[in-house]
Amino acid sequence: MATSVAEPSYPTGAQLTVFDPAFREDPYPILAEVREKAPIHYNADMGMWVITRHADVHAILRNPALWSDPRRANPDSFYHKALGGDRDEEPSMLLMDDPGHRRLRELVRHSFTPRAIEKWRERARRVARRHVDAIEDGEFDLIARVANPVPTVVIAELLGVDPERHADFKAWSDTMIKTAFTPFGSPEDVAASEAAREQLAAFFLGEIEKRREQPDEGLVTQMVRAEESGDVLEDEEIVMQCILLLLAGNLTTSDLIGNAVMALVRNPDQQALLRADRSLMRNAVEEVLRYDSPVTNSGRIAHEDFEFGGFAIEQGQALGVSLAAANRDPAVHPDPDRFDVRRERIHLMSFGGGRHFCLGAHLARLEAAETLDALLDRFSNLERGSGESVYAMNASFRGLSTFSVRGTR
Ligand code: HEM
Repeated sequence: MATSVAEPSYPTGAQLTVFDPAFREDPYPILAEVREKAPIHYNADMGMWVITRHADVHAILRNPALWSDPRRANPDSFYHKALGGDRDEEPSMLLMDDPGHRRLRELVRHSFTPRAIEKWRERARRVARRHVDAIEDGEFDLIARVANPVPTVVIAELLGVDPERHADFKAWSDTMIKTAFTPFGSPEDVAASEAAREQLAAFFLGEIEKRREQPDEGLVTQMVRAEESGDVLEDEEIVMQCILLLLAGNLTTSDLIGNAVMALVRNPDQQALLRADRSLMRNAVEEVLRYDSPVTNSGRIAHEDFEFGGFAIEQGQALGVSLAAANRDPAVHPDPDRFDVRRERIHLMSFGGGRHFCLGAHLARLEAAETLDALLDRFSNLERGSGESVYAMNASFRGLSTFSVRGTR
C-alpha cells in the first residue's frame, strides 16, 4: 500500500531560496508565513533546520559551542554539501572553528576596528564621489555605475592591490560567489569558480611577494607583517584571508547600496527626510540593513544532540538561520515591513553574531553612508527609471544585478 507524506502547510525547501522566482522578487511575505506557522522546522529538501524568529536566531549565532566547519556536518546536510564538507584543505575563517578561527581572526581584527576603518573614510568618500559625479542627469544603471565598482575599488585599495586589476578582481569574485552557499551549481559554474579561485590565489601570491619587498599601508602588508604572540601567517593563509575579504566585502556591500537606493525610491517620504537631515544617515543605513539585508542566511552546525525550541536537534545537523526573517520579526521590530529611517532600537541580525560576527561591518556601513551621501548631493531627486530592476540569483544574498534609476540634478 502506498503511503503518502503530507505536504507541509508552509513554504519550505527551495521555496525559501533565490532559485524560486517569488522568493527572489519578495521573500518577506513568505518568510513571515514561515515565522508564524513553523518558526523552527526541518527542511528535508535542503538538509537543514530553518530558524526564523529573532530570539532563536540570536541564540544560535551567539552559542559559542556550535560549529562552523562544514567538514564536521553530516554528509547529507546542507552545510556539508554546499560549503565543501569534502574538501581536504582548511576552510576560510568564516567556516573555521577554534582554535584556528580565533588565531586567524586575531591576526586581522585590528585592521577592522571602528577606529582603524574610520581612517579609510576619506578614501571611500573620494571613490564614491568619483563614480557618482561622473553620472549625468537622467537614467542610469545604479548597479553598474555605482554599487558594483565602489566596494571593489575600496576593498582593493584597502588590501593595497594594483588598481589596474579591479575589473579582474570583480570578475573573479562574481564567478566564485555564483557557486558559494549552494549545492545546486552547474558543473560549468563549479569549474569556472575553481578556475577563478586559482587565478585569485596566484594573483595574491604575487601581491604578497611584492609587499614583502615594497611594503605599503595596505592590509596585505599588514598581514605579511602580522605577528601575534610570536605567530605569523603562512602565505597560503594570507591568500585565503584575502580571498575571503574580497568575496565577503564585494557583493555584500554592492547589495547594501542597491537595496538602500531601492528602499529610498520606493519610499519618497523617507528619501525626503534623509535629504533634509543627513544626521539621519547612520540610522538610515542601519534601517536598510534591517529592512532588506544583503545577507539573508547564515548558520551553524550542532556540536552535540540537544533540544531547541521543543525540537530534538542531532549532532552534525545544519542549523540555518534566516537573518532576513529575524530582522522583520514583529516581536522585536514593531511594524516590521515599514521602512523608517528614524526607527529606534534596531537590533540587527544582518551581520550575524557571536564569534563570527562580520569583520567588515564598520567598513560596509561607512561605504554605504558615503555612497548614499554622494548620490543625494548629486541628484535633487532619485526615482525608478524606465529600465529593469532584476534581483540576482546568488544563494543567501539579496541584491540587484541591474537597477534602472532616474536621477534629477
Ligand atoms: C553589508 C555588507 C555586509 C554584510 C551584510 C555582511 C554579513 C556577514 C555575515 C552575515 C557574516 C557571518 C556572521 C555569522 O555567521 O555570525 C559575515 C562574516 C564575515 N564578513 Fe561580512 N558582511 C558585509 C560586509 C563585509 C565586508 C565589507 C567585509 C570585509 C572587507 C566582510 C568580512 C567578513 C568576514 C571576514 C567574515 C567572517 C568572520 C568570521 O568568521 O569570524 N563583510 N558577514
